Amino acid sequence: MTGPLAELQHLHLDRLERHYAEVLSGLGLDGVALYSGHPAPHYGDDQFANFCAYGHFQHWTGQACLAHSWLLVCPGKRPILYLHAPDDFWHLPARLPQEAWVERVDVVTGRFDAPPALPPGRNAVIGDVDGTTAKALGGELNPAALLTALDEGRVRKSDFEVACIGRANRQAMAGHLAARNAFLAGAAELDVQLAYLQASRQRESDSPYGNIVGINAHAGVLHYQHYDTGTPKNRYSLLVDAGLRYRGYCADITRTWAGPQADALFPALIEGVIQVQQRLIASLRPGVDFVALHERMHDMLAELLVEHRIVFSSPESAVAGGITRAFCPHGLGHLLGIQVHDVAGRRTADGTALTPPAAHPALRLTRELEAGMVVTMEPGLYVIPMLLEPLRAAPAGREVDWALVERLAPHGGIRIEDNVLVTPGAAENLTLEAE
Ligand code: GLY
Ligand code: MN
Ligand code: MN
Repeated sequence: MTGPLAELQHLHLDRLERHYAEVLSGLGLDGVALYSGHPAPHYGDDQFANFCAYGHFQHWTGQACLAHSWLLVCPGKRPILYLHAPDDFWHLPARLPQEAWVERVDVVTGRFDAPPALPPGRNAVIGDVDGTTAKALGGELNPAALLTALDEGRVRKSDFEVACIGRANRQAMAGHLAARNAFLAGAAELDVQLAYLQASRQRESDSPYGNIVGINAHAGVLHYQHYDTGTPKNRYSLLVDAGLRYRGYCADITRTWAGPQADALFPALIEGVIQVQQRLIASLRPGVDFVALHERMHDMLAELLVEHRIVFSSPESAVAGGITRAFCPHGLGHLLGIQVHDVAGRRTADGTALTPPAAHPALRLTRELEAGMVVTMEPGLYVIPMLLEPLRAAPAGREVDWALVERLAPHGGIRIEDNVLVTPGAAENLTLEAE
């Protein structure tokens, strides 16, 4: 394979081989078998849940769909892919793509419900493997030190990985524009979802997470999981949090749009959240503590609430009284990669846990930023009755204009989410508007 992406993938694999060699020798291991995993059957049924291959298997192959397959990595030798592709007249047996990584592995095709034998020496087995299988193989199952070290190898992305996330973003943005257009033309949530899938060219089961398509108050349900089939009489808002996977790597993008019946305050708040996000993106640098950045988001949301007179008091008082946390209970962002909430966001490079502050338990990224990390930046502002009712009853509730909150309630909420590469200089936004 030739071409810019193939060249980048060769460099990515060089880096991966070096990292595995270093990590395995440091732990006294001769090799590691990575199991891709297999789909879970529904209980008492002959049907299966959606499947997504194990992250470390995808780190080498980018193959999210390959089940029952194994990659054996023994530094100094070519990796061996045991490709589960038995003869089958019910299904099309798995086939490999024409991608650079395939040239770098030896492929053994067959039936691997049972795993292949491991070579002599001290080996580890990682993935969703049961203890009996691991014992039969004679490998150490999911050793914590190995998993921590391999996770760390996914934190700073290679140029290949960044290119894949960029490609996923471009394809996803085509979907977001189609979703917005469908909504403005009167589509129901289900039709918006179908417009998104069609324009971004993917089937639902391949998307990296369940797309969130919320019209009106549903936009305030953070991980809203249904698709209404009817269009509401009044359309105040649409929130779409939808992604795409390209060669294993995810896009995770959110857009919020005002509908024809939106209150005039709502588009102004959308613009305000966009400005908050852009200012935070401009401050992304290596060495920045993401917890501090998350707290900065709360300061800025407080300024926005005061500017629009939703809060009467000062921004400082709104943060201190927990008002901003009631309007935005999720984190500013998270690491992004093969997993939408990528690994190792809450620990230091040596594996020490970095638990989020008690006031911000949902924050998924608590470490210092480094060049090569890809993070989401997703400030939000919502009317969530379950969180605002207790605030109303609390002393800080006196600082809030509840009549304005009532006016905003049918709009649900706002989230604006982009995917951003941290570099030694200015951060690079990988989520480019397609218009
Ligand atoms: N799509 C889930 C998230 O933004 O974290
Ligand atoms: Mn996200
Ligand atoms: Mn998202």
